[in-house]
Amino acid sequence: MRILMVCLGNICRSPLAEGILRKKAEEHNLPIVVDSAGTSNFHVGENPDIRTIKNALKNGIDVSNLVARQFNKSDFEKFDIIYTMDSSNYTNVIALAENEAHKKKVRMILNELYPNQNLSVPDPYYGGEEGFQHVFDLLNAACDKIIEKIKTGKI
Ligand code: 4NP
Repeated sequence: MRILMVCLGNICRSPLAEGILRKKAEEHNLPIVVDSAGTSNFHVGENPDIRTIKNALKNGIDVSNLVARQFNKSDFEKFDIIYTMDSSNYTNVIALAENEAHKKKVRMILNELYPNQNLSVPDPYYGGEEGFQHVFDLLNAACDKIIEKIKTGKI
């Protein structure tokens, strides 16, 4: 199973989702490949936002070594599931899909927690520290669901 997390900048939400899911997969001995990317090229080559790094560490996860990259079409072949953080990421990724098989791989991550509601993980970039903890809590719960689904063969 290969899972890609996607947001806009690949410095706040998706690297956090990557770090959380990778840690849970290790804890459950699940051989999952996890990566993340941004739909934009704004922060390519940068480590996660310092607020993301600090918040993740506070919650026991180290994302300081991750490096932002831009989503590209080859990711449709490299990954089984592409989780987008918000509706604009979803639209942008779907726009790059060249066939139905690619489109079927793209999901809104919060639909794992709140099925069919198409809710967005709020972008914490322009807000305060509390926004980062809220994002952490949402992604932590969503990743628990993903792990549970993988373990029960539902993904
Ligand atoms: P992310 O947050 O998509 O969760 O990584 C953002 C990071 C940077 C910008 C926007 C959102 N930006 O406009 O630079």
